[in-house]
Amino acid sequence: MHSTDKPTVPHDLVRLDADHPGFRDPDYRARRNEIARLAASHHTRQPIPRITYTARENALWRHILGRLLPLQDEKASRFIVELRDRLAFSQTTIPQLVDLNPLLRRASGFEMIPVAGLVTPRAFLESLARSAFPSTQCIRHASRPFYTPEPDVVYELVGHAATLTNSEIADVSRRFGLAASRAKTDDEVERIVRMYWYTLEFGVVMEDGNPKAFGAGLLSSVDELTLFDRAGRLQAFDVDDIAATPYDPTQLQPRLFVAQSVEALLGALDAWLPKR
Ligand SMILES: [Fe+2]
Repeated sequence: MHSTDKPTVPHDLVRLDADHPGFRDPDYRARRNEIARLAASHHTRQPIPRITYTARENALWRHILGRLLPLQDEKASRFIVELRDRLAFSQTTIPQLVDLNPLLRRASGFEMIPVAGLVTPRAFLESLARSAFPSTQCIRHASRPFYTPEPDVVYELVGHAATLTNSEIADVSRRFGLAASRAKTDDEVERIVRMYWYTLEFGVVMEDGNPKAFGAGLLSSVDELTLFDRAGRLQAFDVDDIAATPYDPTQLQPRLFVAQSVEALLGALDAWLPKR
């Protein structure tokens, strides 16, 4: 989830926490600012800026995907793997949002829009109501290829892009936005954000008797994909339970909710989210 305590965008544009893998790397920080500045200068109805990724950045992309995609084949829902294969983004160079968007628009009316920094959960959800998925274009620090303390382009594309080609997921995403824009209290927003977190970010579904990853946060993390189905973390899918369960975005998720199938998960969201 595109939660909060991340880079804001005043003069240094991107502020990294002291424990960020790139905190002591001035080249990395300069690169982050460069990409953030491009995103910050982007306005709706203008073409999305292309990022000229370096050979090192593309090599990092290849390295991460080389590990993630086989793990997804083994541990992700078939439903998701089929969407991923249909989108068929490059495994050798980092795809550009501007190249992916025509496919997304045709498939579900969604598009990925560049953001310089992270937005609040409410602003993120409200953007979904407009079929606009806020996405960063930077890649994580090469020293920790299988870890990122914040969303990066791997997470956005490997985790979310493919799922946004599915019209049902696109529709519930819009309705999450609608729900957030209609919410009257912070508590209401918190419940909506939790529901988004434990389904489209960290949802798990049963398939042929085995738990399989469905949510973007699982799909794009080597650690989560490897460990999500360990004993003690999985519990029955219950919307009231989910809406009442806080989460910490900085940790491996200790509790995950398992729906009986993709259809059951999307059906539960359809029933829980406000109709248009
Ligand atoms: Fe996300």
